[in-house]
This record gives sequence, structure tokens and C-alpha cells, in this order.
Amino acid sequence: MRFWIFILSIVCFIASTGVSLYKTSPNEVSERYRPYLLEEISKCNEQLSSILKEKSFNQSKLKKHFISARKHYKHIEFILEYVSPKEAKYYINGPLVPKYDADMGSEVFYPQGFQKIEEIIYDGEVNQFQLLKDQVSSLKDQLSTLQDYYKDVELNDGQLLEMMQLQLFRLATMSFNGYDATISLDGIKESEWSLEGVNKAFTFFNIYAERDPSTLPMYQRCMALFKSASKQLIANTDFNSFDRLGFIVKYINPLNENIVKFHNAAHLSWSRRKQALNLNNISLFSRKNFNLQHFSIYYDDTLFNAKQAALGKLLFFDPRLSGGNNMSCATCHNPEKGFTDGRNLTVTTGLIRDNTRNTPSLLDVAFQKAFFYDGRAYQLEQQVFDVVHNKNEMHSTLDEAISKLNKSVEYRMLFDKAFEDKSGITAYNIQKAISEYEKTLVTFNSAFDKYVQGDLTRLSKEAVDGYNLFAGKALCGSCHFFPVFNGAVPPFYNDSEFEVLGVPAYVGAKVVDPDKGRFNVTGVKEFMYAFKTPTVRNSAITAPYMHNGIYNTLEEVVDFYHKGGGAGLGIAIENQTLPFDSLDLNAYEKKAIVSFLKSLTDTSGVVSKPQRLPEIIDVVIKSGAY
Ligand code: HEC
Ligand code: HEC
Repeated sequence: MRFWIFILSIVCFIASTGVSLYKTSPNEVSERYRPYLLEEISKCNEQLSSILKEKSFNQSKLKKHFISARKHYKHIEFILEYVSPKEAKYYINGPLVPKYDADMGSEVFYPQGFQKIEEIIYDGEVNQFQLLKDQVSSLKDQLSTLQDYYKDVELNDGQLLEMMQLQLFRLATMSFNGYDATISLDGIKESEWSLEGVNKAFTFFNIYAERDPSTLPMYQRCMALFKSASKQLIANTDFNSFDRLGFIVKYINPLNENIVKFHNAAHLSWSRRKQALNLNNISLFSRKNFNLQHFSIYYDDTLFNAKQAALGKLLFFDPRLSGGNNMSCATCHNPEKGFTDGRNLTVTTGLIRDNTRNTPSLLDVAFQKAFFYDGRAYQLEQQVFDVVHNKNEMHSTLDEAISKLNKSVEYRMLFDKAFEDKSGITAYNIQKAISEYEKTLVTFNSAFDKYVQGDLTRLSKEAVDGYNLFAGKALCGSCHFFPVFNGAVPPFYNDSEFEVLGVPAYVGAKVVDPDKGRFNVTGVKEFMYAFKTPTVRNSAITAPYMHNGIYNTLEEVVDFYHKGGGAGLGIAIENQTLPFDSLDLNAYEKKAIVSFLKSLTDTSGVVSKPQRLPEIIDVVIKSGAY
């Protein structure tokens, strides 16, 4: 009897602490799933071996083997991308344009792996048969190495669910948008394979659902959603007509929500990996899902601090940071104009400019891993220093600004409150405060965002069509990634992409703009005329466009892309990364894309100026500068 009372009290204790009674070891599912993972790698490699066995370039046979290999790869992509991100990104499924990774030294990664193989096979490059075989062999080697590694790599069940969520995010932000499968245009079919792979892994979670009834409804809901989502993808494989936005709202969002709820109900732990996405959030594409601090390099040093942000706002609007007390950050980054100055730098008749580049918007500026059009700064803090020094900009040194600010009792007090270590007015603290303010300029509350969150009354049919064109036929979304719409690469957001569009020197010019862009920073010839992909959020209020401000309207920008960028306009540019061909858009389609861009406007809560600036004895603001 005493024994039973003892057992009962343990049960009560466990129940009262909220720990699941149906405890499953934290990697039970992962262990059951592992043989499937290893087998998929083997199957993929068998298909690659079939390519190697072909004696001649028989395109239809090669395509068949390629497609089967891709299918097995896509089934497990969500694991490989998470556990082996560098291998996946550079060797297995590397992009079709050269990549430069500052983290990995000055090495340039040329296209290789699946995408290169796809290009040779689908473009029918018969004379590259040997190269094809070399590519296939090294891909096989890569996969075999990974297979060995995966035999005992540690996986846990909570993490496995997070990998699934990341794959859903990858579908919506990349696979649906032609980021890979760029030549076969099989992105939608491939998305179905990915989903099939995720679904397969999820079925192993049935042991939780069987042992713990509280997880059962979410398990069943997910299984039903996987099934109908797959059906939807199988029925609509055409890249151009696929309704991406509808799919995101109807399937991706609810699947994510139910996976999160299942995760919590099963009492699985959440990974402590520092990452850009807060995956324990039920809405995958909302502001809350983004961890802005991830985008700063000095992670521990850059935690958000409201007092610093408030001080940063004062500094941002204060002309006394400049040499002549005549110019603040807001002079060029004017909140009324979406934090731009609306000025066009290029005169239409030639190459004369009063400043080197067009002022970019600072809305959503923090969601990037590189700053300035050429990416010469890697974090916001670093960027302030550059601006204050620049003779075309504020022409002062931070030391000069510091001694002015030190004359102000009020500023000294504000710095003391904002920086608890009492380090006072230093160059770093000025930069840090301004950066914290910049991080508050987030605009995820546009009509488009509300639609994505489920309010279907927010967008016109034209704007919905516009998004589907943007992400589909017009290929915009393969560079401007949903939902941030800049070139920071989802879902890990560890780098920002640079692209060569061949923007002309002025409207009508048959020469490319002479600004060398990213080449100035890297010295790598592939990056000659390459620029960082900016966000198109708020583009309706940030004209003129492009680094040289060449276009005044969004219609002109769309037309530039429609014609195939610089090369399409007849400019001789060899390394353009934008497709040269016309996009073949009709008048309605062009209009729809512009409608979609306009639905991304949101400046709620971010445009106010400070009521007043702190006093600084003996330093007078030039009239009109504030
Ligand atoms: C004279 C006009 C001017 C002033 C004043 C100015 N900026 Fe800028 N800002 C620019 C231009 C032009 C660029 C783009 C330069 C480039 O890419 O080389 C830029 C780029 C930036 C960027 C990078 C944005 C991105 O997406 O890469 C940030 C951040 C920024 N400025 C913040 C500031 C801050 C903070 C201040 C005040 C300390 C400031 N700016 C003052 C014109 C100005
Ligand atoms: C190959 C990658 C790529 C593709 C595809 C692409 N863009 Fe861009 N986009 C860029 C880059 C890079 C820039 C900056 C170019 C510059 O400053 O010279 C840019 C700039 C823009 C701008 C100007 C933003 C500003 O504030 O100045 C808009 C608007 C824009 N793109 C919309 C689109 C639309 C619409 C499409 C599809 C029709 C599209 N983009 C396709 C890479 C791309």
C-alpha cells in the first residue's frame, strides 16, 4: 500500500510540474528517422552513378537520372541545409552565380553541384559532357562524406521539428521563387518533393501522438494539411501560374502554427542556437518572428536597449554631429520621404553628379548583413563612422562631435542613463545608440503583411497577381526575397547578395554606370558593377531608384527589368547576373507588379521627429537644418 501511495505521489508531482507523463527520449524520433535519411542519400547517389554510366550525351536519359537524384535530395534537403549549411550552399546546391564569402577568406565559389549539373544537362551542352561527369563525381563524393557523418551526428526531436519549419520558410522564400531549379523551372514540383520529405519525417512523430493524447489533434491537423498541400502542389506545377501567395496563407502558415503547437504540447525543448528566426512563434512571416539582433556581428554587445534607441533618435536628427552644424542624418534620410532625400543624382545628359550615390531608405535597414550599395560595412555600428567622416556627407570626425556633445549637461546625462557601464560619450556609444534607433525603423505592417497574416480583404486581385508575378514569371523574388524583400538570404540570413544588373549611366545611355560597386571592396572581377540587393518595401515612397537614382518611377524600373536589364538594353556587359531575355510581361502584368510594390508601404510609428533637441552651450544649429 505504501508503495502505491509513493508511486501516486510521484505521478502527482510530475503532473503538477507540467512535465509530460508520456515522456519520450528527446531523440527517439530522430533515431527512428535516421535510416530513412541515410537511405535517401544512397538513392540519390545511385541516380548520380547512372549519369556517370551514360556513354554519350543523351539529354532525355540524363534528365531522367537528374530528376530522380533531385527528388531524393529534396526529400532530405531540410536536414542537409541545417546540419551542413556550408556544404549545401557551396558544393551541393550552389547558386548559378559566383559567391564571395568574407567569413571564408577571400575565396570565390563558382557554381557547382546540382545547379551546375542542371545547367549542362538542360541547356544541352554536349561539349561539356566531361565537365558534367566531373561535377557529378564530386557531388557524389560530397554526399558520401556527409552520409558517413550522418551515421552518428546528433539530432534531437525538437530540432527536427524546427528544421521542418525552416523548410516551410525556404519553400515560401526561395523554392517557389525560382532560387534554384532556375533552368528546369521545376521549382514547384521540387517543392512538393521537399514537402513530401518533411511529411515523411513528421510521420515518425506518431509515437508522441500515440502516447500523449494532448498532442494528437495537432498531429492529425498537420498530417491533413501535409496531404492537402501536396495535392495542391501536384495539381499546379506550372511555375508561372502557381498561386504562391494563396499557398502561403492557406498551407504554409497553418502548418507552421500546428507544428509549433505540437512542439509545445509534446514538451520538446527549443534549440538555443542563435538564429535570425524565432521559430517558437506561430506566424512565420511576421515582425515578431525576426530576431533583429541576429543581424549584428557583436551579438552579445548589441542587445536592444530602449534608452539607447531614444538617445539614438536625438543624435540622428541633430545637425551638431556635422562639421558645420548644418546637416543631420535626417537631412538626407528624411522620414517624410521614407528616410531618403528624393534627390536624383544623375543629370540626364551626362555623367556629372553632385554626390556619388543615391540615398537609400533606412526603413527595414537592419535586416541585412552588409551595408552601403557596395557592402563595405558589415554592421550598422560601423556604418555611422563612415558617414560622419565622408566629406560628401557630414564632414566631421566623431572626435569633433564628441567634444561638442560633451558640452551639453543634458546629453551627458542621457548617455549615462543609456550606457550603464558609465562609459559616457564615446565614438562607439554614439554609433551604438544611432544603430539601436535604426533598428526600430521596422515596417512589417503594410497591407501586404496583413494579407499574409490572414486578412484577405487587404489586397486587390491585381496586387495578389502582382506578388505572384514578382515571385514567379518576373523572377524578382529570386533576388528580393520574401518577406524582407532584400538580398539577405533566408532562412539563416547570414549573408547579403550582390547582383550585376547593368544599370545604365543615364536614361538612354548605351554604357553601364561607371560605379564599380562591390568590385571596389572585394577586388574580384566577377563583382564589377555588382550592387547589394536593396529591399523593395516602401519603394513607392523612396524614388528615385537604383544606386545612381536613374529611374524616377516604379514603372520605369519594371520596364528596365522587363527588357532584360543593361544587357537587354544593348549595353555590353559580360557578367550580368540578371537574365538578359525579355520577361515577356504584358501591360496588365507590369501594372500588377507595381500594385504589389505599392502594397508594401508602411511607415506607421516610425516617422516622428524628436520634439526638441538637447541644449549645447555655444553651439548653434544652422537655421533650417532641423
Ligand atoms: C549627405 C547625405 C547623407 C547624410 C547626411 C547621411 N547619409 Fe546615410 N547614406 C547616404 C548615401 C548616399 C548612402 C549610400 C552610400 C553608399 O552606398 O556608398 C547612405 C547609406 C547609409 C546607410 C546604409 C544603408 C544600406 O541599406 O546599406 C545607413 C545605415 C545610413 N546611410 C545611415 C546614416 C546615418 C546614421 C547618418 C547620420 C550619422 C547618415 N546616414 C547621414 C547619404 C547620407
Ligand atoms: C538578379 C537579381 C535581381 C532581380 C531578378 C531583380 N532585382 Fe531589383 N534590384 C536588384 C539590385 C542588385 C538592385 C540595386 C541596383 C542598383 O542600385 O544599381 C535592385 C533594385 C531594385 C529597385 C530599386 C530599389 C531602390 O530603392 O532603389 C526596385 C524597385 C526593384 N529592384 C524591383 C525589382 C522588380 C520589380 C524586379 C522584377 C521585375 C526585380 N527588382 C528583379 C536585384 C534584382
